[in-house]
Amino acid sequence: MANLNQDQNRDQWSSKVGFVLAAAGSAVGLGNLWRFPYTAGQNGGGAFVLVYFAILVLVGFTLMLAELIIGRHTQLNAVGAYRKIRENWGWVGGIGVLASFLILSFYSVIGGWVLNYIVKSLTGAFTVPNVDMADMFVGFITNPTEPILYHAIFAFLTLGIVMGGISGGIEKYSKILMPSLFVMMFLIMIRSVTLPGASEGIKFFLAPDFSKINGQVMLAALGQVFFSLSLGMGVIITYGSYLSKDENIPQNSLIIPLVDTGVALLAGLAILPAVFALGFSPDQGPSLLFITLPAVFAEMPLGSFFALLFFILVLFAALTSSISLLEASVSYVVDEYHWNRKKTSLTLGLIAFTLGIPSSLAQGVWSHIRPFRDLDILDSIDFVASNVMLPLSGLLLCLFIGWVWGIDNALKEATNNGKISFKLAPFWAFLIKWVAPIAILVVFIQGLRS
Ligand code: PHE
Repeated sequence: MANLNQDQNRDQWSSKVGFVLAAAGSAVGLGNLWRFPYTAGQNGGGAFVLVYFAILVLVGFTLMLAELIIGRHTQLNAVGAYRKIRENWGWVGGIGVLASFLILSFYSVIGGWVLNYIVKSLTGAFTVPNVDMADMFVGFITNPTEPILYHAIFAFLTLGIVMGGISGGIEKYSKILMPSLFVMMFLIMIRSVTLPGASEGIKFFLAPDFSKINGQVMLAALGQVFFSLSLGMGVIITYGSYLSKDENIPQNSLIIPLVDTGVALLAGLAILPAVFALGFSPDQGPSLLFITLPAVFAEMPLGSFFALLFFILVLFAALTSSISLLEASVSYVVDEYHWNRKKTSLTLGLIAFTLGIPSSLAQGVWSHIRPFRDLDILDSIDFVASNVMLPLSGLLLCLFIGWVWGIDNALKEATNNGKISFKLAPFWAFLIKWVAPIAILVVFIQGLRS
């Protein structure tokens, strides 16, 4: 049951571990299991992983703490949080909330694909002899109705959980889903690295080839850190707003990126060695999860079982991310317009579902519609949300904390008014004022130019 904060009638996490699981659940998602392995595969494997680590330390940790500070300080949603500190900055939170909503619309479509792949593994679709995995995938996503049905199921699962409220809904589910995710991922990883011929893949993924590090690899890694940690969306601000005043937030902002990276590494070790062992190409891009992996499973002993296990795991991870995406806009409407949570979740969930329909149709009957830079509808929404709104919101967050609200105020909140020690404070101050904004600016400009 929720602990209600009497002053504001606002939910709080009922336990420390509940918050960590939920925040890590938001971070760990399709970004780790699907995007990280294929991006690493396209960007030189170990070289990418190394740069990813460097950027994680410089930008990921910095912004994670910044968002938790603002959320916990104001105990409000992203828009309300900025506005409470500086009246005319609310729109910055608005960019994040809007971006999270746009991302939710197509995230749910991909979540639907995952659901379909669970059904496919249950019905033995991957074990049919000589089945062409690419044909199977394309045949499904171009169908005008079936993917929308799965998209609807995923959207309803998401809004159903968010309707339950913070500790009653998200926290309860995260407690079950997150640890299962770790265990399942670990099992698949063991299976993968023990396949004959896997060692080449392990080397590819873990031994950095320094000559492969270039601007493009660094940019790819920076973008991945942003997406994977759920930053710039108002999501972490919102989750931080449910944290109690005596929680150690610098510590939390270390734990969450570490958990997120741990899962990404497990996913890389589960996917890339198997790809090598079975003679696939590591740089085949976004289809790696949906086309290569089923083929990998089909050639593995106990393949159907592992396929089922894996896609259930991907579904868990995608759901804990999508509920955080919905929560960002739900908490905004609940705080600012005083709607009740159930009505808000239902309404916004249905709007996000409707918004996602064109993204689903864009894979087939509407694939000729190119609203932006010759990208289909899904990719256009992704581009505007992830490559424009997200870096902009992250950059403004750095400027807001470093130069407008001020480091001293931020550190007061981070240390619970000096009650806990935060030894890295001067380092963090330098990162948020200089290093992180400059790094983000580079991604933003490159993102618009590429
Ligand atoms: N971080 C999530 C993932 O890796 C996606 C996400 C982005 C969730 C932004 C919430 C906010 O899949």
